Amino acid sequence: MTSDQYSHLRRFRRNATLRNMLAETRLSPANFIYPMFVVNGTGIRTPIEPMPGIDQVSVDTAVEEAQKAAEVGVKSVLLFGIPDEKDASGSRSTSPDEAVQRAIGAIKAVLPETHIITDVCLCEYTDHGHCGIVSGDSVDNDATLPLLAETAVSHAQAGADMVAPSAMMDGQVAAIRAALNESDFSDVPIMGYSAKYASAFYGPFRIAVDSAPRFGDRRSYQMAPTQGREAMREIEADLEEGADLIMVKPALAYLDIIKEASMRFDAPIAAYNVSGEYSMIAAAGKAGWLERDRALMEVLTAIKRAGADLIITYSAIEAARILASG
Ligand code: PBG
Repeated sequence: MTSDQYSHLRRFRRNATLRNMLAETRLSPANFIYPMFVVNGTGIRTPIEPMPGIDQVSVDTAVEEAQKAAEVGVKSVLLFGIPDEKDASGSRSTSPDEAVQRAIGAIKAVLPETHIITDVCLCEYTDHGHCGIVSGDSVDNDATLPLLAETAVSHAQAGADMVAPSAMMDGQVAAIRAALNESDFSDVPIMGYSAKYASAFYGPFRIAVDSAPRFGDRRSYQMAPTQGREAMREIEADLEEGADLIMVKPALAYLDIIKEASMRFDAPIAAYNVSGEYSMIAAAGKAGWLERDRALMEVLTAIKRAGADLIITYSAIEAARILASG
């Protein structure tokens, strides 16, 4: 073989400038969404053991976190609320006095440009830990819809810029769209957790918000990891119901789903780099088993390359700092 008989792709890799010029995928803090766990009280920063670097925050410390994010160009946050009292119907989820509703106003007051998304689900608010109303040993889809709709409206009333229903109840996007429109929030978009899988990678999150189901699991409403085509039907259904953005969650074990969705649908796609994905890199990095920063950027790049427009990640601030340091 002579050198004119094979391709010369290595010519592209000769130096950093050239590699950077030809990069097909670029990460930007503008595409990151930073999730936060908000509790009642003040001055609180309670570390979440399996997620080093991530704390439960009260409204005031949530504002500090949102400021840290904004300073490095991450201007979107996703809020989860943890109430003091949980009950069977998750009734605290609609209260204007709860942590999420108050955090929205507090963040907006200091950072009017920060785009605030709220997670709409009942699992953080129910004493049984399921994402809806339980009847017998199952979750009642249609009884749950009005509660999710009310929760979304209460977030919009508090000033949320976008709502993100994650309960995986059929019809949740339609119910929320109708309720928002009725309450004059027709310009508040919905990001559907459209293809959300029943995943072991949510483990650390459930510790963070104390939402592990007290009985059973979420397999009767979240998707089985075996399903690819069904994910496309879930996404299609959400879009038909009026979702403005769609989401695939988790991200890493489902890059094929992100890719296929990005080729099939013209709606913006978010991917959720979930808690367990964060914990894996944190733990292996801490043990010295891999280079944490490089592993993190590789993972985020892969999620973007697969077709995600937006990446929800607990590493948003850190990744933005790494990007800024070149
Ligand atoms: C449900 C919800 C979950 C996550 C986001 N929204 C947990 C679940 O379905 O059990 C998981 C996020 C993560 O693991 O980072 N409200």
